[in-house]
Amino acid sequence: GAPVEVDVSKIEPGQLIRVEWQGKPVWVVSRTDAAMKDLAAHDDKLRDPNSEEPQQPDYATNPARSIRPDIFVAVGICTHLGCSPTYLPDGFGELVEGVKSGFFCPCHGSKFDMAGRVFQNVPAPLNLVIPPYHFKDDNTVLVG
Ligand code: FES
Repeated sequence: GAPVEVDVSKIEPGQLIRVEWQGKPVWVVSRTDAAMKDLAAHDDKLRDPNSEEPQQPDYATNPARSIRPDIFVAVGICTHLGCSPTYLPDGFGELVEGVKSGFFCPCHGSKFDMAGRVFQNVPAPLNLVIPPYHFKDDNTVLVG
């Protein structure tokens, strides 16, 4: 199918937008400075902090799991049984102490950080999938 074009200049810091790519929900998130800093602060709580599990694009094997640190692109499908996690821009509360924002799957409680990295002790086995994408220019992401 054709790539899906997303104008990232229109996404406010902290905002998540959803697009559809190959019938799947894809999230494009503008990470705040605080969210980017937070990524370095909780590796010890994650199952695969460096995305060493296979089948990730090269640009997903860094802590931010992205081409550009401020723009996060991921398939919005839980790696457990396929529900769509909920974006928690204000954190998990008591579910994960000290992590400022992330994604929570309502089906069986899996938790992911702002790079889609899965936390320990949840049913999801893998980090969220990063789709193929690239920047056409500073403001435009092509997914696919
Ligand atoms: Fe997300 Fe089971 S489908 S935790």
